Amino acid sequence: MKSDKFRILFVCLGNICRSPTAEGVFRHKARAMGWLELLDVDSAGTADYHVGKAPDARAVRYARERGYDLSPLRARQVADEDFVRFDLILAMDRSNLSALKRQAAGIAGARAELDLLLNYAAAPVGLDVPDPYYGDRAEFEQVLDLVEAASDDLLRHVLGRLGVMGCVR
Ligand code: 4NP
Repeated sequence: MKSDKFRILFVCLGNICRSPTAEGVFRHKARAMGWLELLDVDSAGTADYHVGKAPDARAVRYARERGYDLSPLRARQVADEDFVRFDLILAMDRSNLSALKRQAAGIAGARAELDLLLNYAAAPVGLDVPDPYYGDRAEFEQVLDLVEAASDDLLRHVLGRLGVMGCVR
């Protein structure tokens, strides 16, 4: 097993709805299975609109109802250094993936793999986690459904890359 942690960054537009949800759900699942100490999990936004803010109150409330605590998270914008530091950067939709690719192209030493979160869901659930910001409860519940659908498969993938896959049922 490599001693290095696996570094994974979830990215959406504002870092107050989708990517904090993905960070919170993924952290929760990794912690519950005892693997969180092997991981460095973070989230960020391609835009700077909400830097320093807590996640959207609706995202916090509906996540809490499913047992996930997003309240300690604070929004930040994706930094050039993230492309050097993280192993895997997962966008919530194709628009943010395109923004990440444009940013990465100008960074010397960028090494992070860029992909869509939903490409890691074993079941076909589409490509994009739709932006819930102007929606209502149903849109936020859909974010949770999609993030949950991908998280177990993503965790299995990451543990495989860390060389601990044999320990996972
Ligand atoms: P997120 O949602 O990208 O999932 O955090 C949004 C949050 C804020 C805005 C758009 C999307 N906004 O336009 O301020």
